[in-house]
Amino acid sequence: MRTARLIVAGYGKIGKAFISTLEGKASRLRDLGYDLKVVAVCEKAGSVVDADGIDLKRLLDGKVRWGKAKTLDVIRDVDADIVLELTPGNVNTGEPGLGHIRAALNGGRHVVTSNKSPLVLDYAGLDGLAGKRGVKLKIEATVGGAIPVINTCLNELKCNGIRNIYGILNGTTNYILSKMAEEGVDFQSALAEAQSLGLAEPDPSYDIEGVDTAAKVVILANAVLEGNVKLRDIRVEGIDSVTAEAVELAKEHGFVVKLVGDVAGRRVGPRLVPVDHPLNVSGSLNAILVETDVAGDITLTGAGAGPRETSSALLGDVLEVLDAVRAS
Ligand SMILES: NC(=O)c1ccc[n+]([C@@H]2O[C@H](COP(=O)([O-])OP(=O)(O)OC[C@H]3O[C@@H](n4cnc5c(N)ncnc54)[C@H](OP(=O)(O)O)[C@@H]3O)[C@@H](O)[C@H]2O)c1
Repeated sequence: MRTARLIVAGYGKIGKAFISTLEGKASRLRDLGYDLKVVAVCEKAGSVVDADGIDLKRLLDGKVRWGKAKTLDVIRDVDADIVLELTPGNVNTGEPGLGHIRAALNGGRHVVTSNKSPLVLDYAGLDGLAGKRGVKLKIEATVGGAIPVINTCLNELKCNGIRNIYGILNGTTNYILSKMAEEGVDFQSALAEAQSLGLAEPDPSYDIEGVDTAAKVVILANAVLEGNVKLRDIRVEGIDSVTAEAVELAKEHGFVVKLVGDVAGRRVGPRLVPVDHPLNVSGSLNAILVETDVAGDITLTGAGAGPRETSSALLGDVLEVLDAVRAS
């Protein structure tokens, strides 16, 4: 049995979905030889700690008592192997996730995260710290939700030279642009519909101005193409100036307009994509094309966000950490 004690920092949409997936997959995980115990769950206001393992069903049903311990103290003091860092991101400061990840790595705990901001601000520092402490920093869930793009590049494609990675890395903007192309509506009506469906935040600027896509480009550049790229190095243009007329004209000529993040080109912006191109995916899907020297082009498509879908990437990373520890 490969065993691990987990701390879950951030019990919002992703944190709850991760716990729910863990609970739902308990018997499959046991069959596969993994024994995962959640010893702490932290919210901004306090934490639940149980060294014997929290009863996940009772937690999900809201039947456990929350204490006052702060996340950083729990990460430092509670005996655990892996910290899941699932708090909200702030691309200007990286906090609170940056502090949580540094504390976890410094304490010799592996980290699995869905939080882009700490990586956007200091990927090299965090990766270096993980190496120095002999622990893993796993980040699959930060890019493309359920799509296993980072691990595919670093594991299955590791004998390849990866020339570029580009594609649709944000579901909200893809939903808006798909709606405009398919129904001829203008940007504002498509955005309003995305908001009414909960696909776009009340303040959608981070998505529509291309910042979210640029953050993912920075992560892919540093983690896969081994650059030392900062957010300021990316030329970013959003989709707010894309008009219904431009979308219609593109369609007449056999193209769709997509917000494309181009890692080697260090660029994010609306691009014309041929209708029969693999990147032409509809709705809130993401599609990521990896250009390699041996395997050729590989396109990965799937849910680019969503709590349950993203929990697949998180759980996959947890299991990879355990496999790596066992192999070492
Ligand atoms: N939702 C998705 O589909 C998705 C997909 C991929 C990646 N992500 C990333 O995953 C992370 C979590 O996303 P989410 O959708 O779950 O966000 P969310 O629903 O806002 O949940 C984040 C939770 O973290 C809590 N939190 C804030 N500060 C904390 C602290 N210091 N210690 C412990 N908990 C703290 C928040 O509490 P309060 O509400 O009290 O502030 C909130 O409950 C974000 O970085 C997001 O960008 C999300």
